[in-house]
Amino acid sequence: MSKRGLIETVSEDAVKKQQQYADMIKVQNTEKYHDKKPKYMITTWGCQMNEHDSENLSGMFEYMGYELTDREEDADVILYNTCAIRENAELKVYGNLSLLKHIKENRDDMIIGVCGCMMQQPHVVEELKKKYSHVDIVFGTHNIYQFPEMLYQQLTSNAGQLIDVWDIDGQIIEGLPTTRKFDVKSFVNIMYGCNNFCTYCIVPYTRGRERSREPKDILDEIRFLANEGIKEITLLGQNVNSYGKTLEQNYTFADLLRDVNDIDGIERIRFMSSHPKDLSDELIDAMAELPKVCESLHLPIQSGSTRLLKKMNRHYSKEDYYLLVDKLRAKIPNIGFTTDIMVGFPGETEEDFLETMEVVERVQYDSAFTFLYSVRKGTPAEKMEDQVPEEVKKERFQRLLEPVNRIAAEKNHAYAGKVVEVLVESVSKRDETKLTGRTRENKLVNFDRPEGDWIGKIVHVKITNPKSFSLNGEMVSDEEVLG
Ligand code: 5AD
Ligand code: SF4
Repeated sequence: MSKRGLIETVSEDAVKKQQQYADMIKVQNTEKYHDKKPKYMITTWGCQMNEHDSENLSGMFEYMGYELTDREEDADVILYNTCAIRENAELKVYGNLSLLKHIKENRDDMIIGVCGCMMQQPHVVEELKKKYSHVDIVFGTHNIYQFPEMLYQQLTSNAGQLIDVWDIDGQIIEGLPTTRKFDVKSFVNIMYGCNNFCTYCIVPYTRGRERSREPKDILDEIRFLANEGIKEITLLGQNVNSYGKTLEQNYTFADLLRDVNDIDGIERIRFMSSHPKDLSDELIDAMAELPKVCESLHLPIQSGSTRLLKKMNRHYSKEDYYLLVDKLRAKIPNIGFTTDIMVGFPGETEEDFLETMEVVERVQYDSAFTFLYSVRKGTPAEKMEDQVPEEVKKERFQRLLEPVNRIAAEKNHAYAGKVVEVLVESVSKRDETKLTGRTRENKLVNFDRPEGDWIGKIVHVKITNPKSFSLNGEMVSDEEVLG
């Protein structure tokens, strides 16, 4: 283990050791399967962090000579990367694992692994031990880099269920292989963990304490991605606004944005998530000044009731939030806002809920992720006595959808006739004659595919047919735009 800044970084030797295990698996696979490749499948639940961890795991699989399949029946190794944020996501994992049991009955050599946030909760591991003995490998969020070693052990011995969940806050791991889902845009972790302890949230317990990656490591990774042709970077962290607090030098998230903005080849910068309590004026100014930082912000509100926000340990009031939104709109006039809203937190009254509805109307979000509060074991909110009855939660949730969807549609319809700047991401999956991409405000745009290779290019599209969840239009030439 080496120490840089205040945070341990897993040593190069430890990462190399894993590479040796990966090499041994590769050789073994070639001997066993000859020209054919064994197959892997990863199913991912939850947030971008998990998606990103899965990209690393995919990178390991590909390095070891596996190829991707989307059919459980065909897979030699199946990995579930799980989410603990709400009970529903957990129930789905248990349901899927039960189905896998039947598939595995006819496939002796199939290996099943589960990892991610759910595994950081001791009661989940107990459940897997007791009822899901067909799961071969169980690991958590802190030791993903050791997957080759765990897989090797299972491939070479019949040791039964292997459980390796670390009950620590985790170090930072650099230099893992990775695969990427997109050719044009990429996610880059800038920090791990969370120190905020919102009273409903399990993340601080499953992902550990907040720790920032060294700026040099982040910038080197982005330079590498730019060289590979990546045009858009999304900087990821549970609360990117507090980036830098564990570094030795004085270096903030705004400093990082400035340095990423200077990297040639990168054309757009996004980031998520932002905590309203930490969004500084310095950062707002950087967003307004830096040409590559996109005019869109994910700013979770959770609730419009200041009383509930306090109970949630959010450290801002409804008024603070309004002030922030107004300040951002004044400095970045066409900024798009998205948010997370939770309904049914313990003690939520009709009045509290109406304040949430008021925020939705006042802020006019481009879109919002809406959540039904779900009790999480071990969080302070679990112990709160005034839990809201299920039917009240559901009724409020339904009422919330009306303004959220109406406003999102209105915002999209206001684009009719406008020309927007689109980074072309891919050929549309639904219709090969269309290209798809996003505006700087993060709106999805579909348009007719002209001759030539447009993927990765920034083009202008005139919106002719806005829909509730996407904008449809026609590409226009730069000359037409300039008039
Ligand atoms: N129940 C429901 N939603 C939750 N979230 C976090 N914890 C819970 C919970 N216990 C939501 C929050 C957060 C988003 C990622 O998930 O809105 O911003
Ligand atoms: Fe959970 Fe709050 Fe941390 Fe977000 S900021 S991950 S909601 S504890």
